Amino acid sequence: MSLKNAATAVRLNAHAPYSNFKVGAAIRAASGQIYAGCNVENVAYPEGTCAEAGAIAAMVAAGETQLTEVFVITNSPMPAPPCGGCRQKLAEFGAGEVKVICANTDGVERVTTIGDLLPGKFDASHMDRS
Ligand code: THU
Repeated sequence: MSLKNAATAVRLNAHAPYSNFKVGAAIRAASGQIYAGCNVENVAYPEGTCAEAGAIAAMVAAGETQLTEVFVITNSPMPAPPCGGCRQKLAEFGAGEVKVICANTDGVERVTTIGDLLPGKFDASHMDRS
């Protein structure tokens, strides 16, 4: 299955009764394996989780920690990029220059990278005083 098909399929399972904004995300891990996730909202609003976080959790649960490509799909006028928190979460596991494809359900796609989405990111080097 392609990243696009995986993200498109999983978006339908999103639990988004509060925003009515379903998001599907699929990531390709370094092994080539695809992991998918959708947003899961909660009546206690801050407890909801983003689609990208779900896909990352599936990847890590399967024993992988490196991703090379991400596809995010939403039903929106224009493709929606990952939120700030998800940019940082994706950067944690990015292997090299990670391609990020944002799409809407009309078939419009925008291609970018995590580096472009999160310039000056906080990483482990900022905690190293030795
Ligand atoms: N959402 C995601 O799943 N990923 C993002 O990167 C942006 C926002 C979800 C969270 C919430 O369930 C809904 O979209 C509206 O913000």
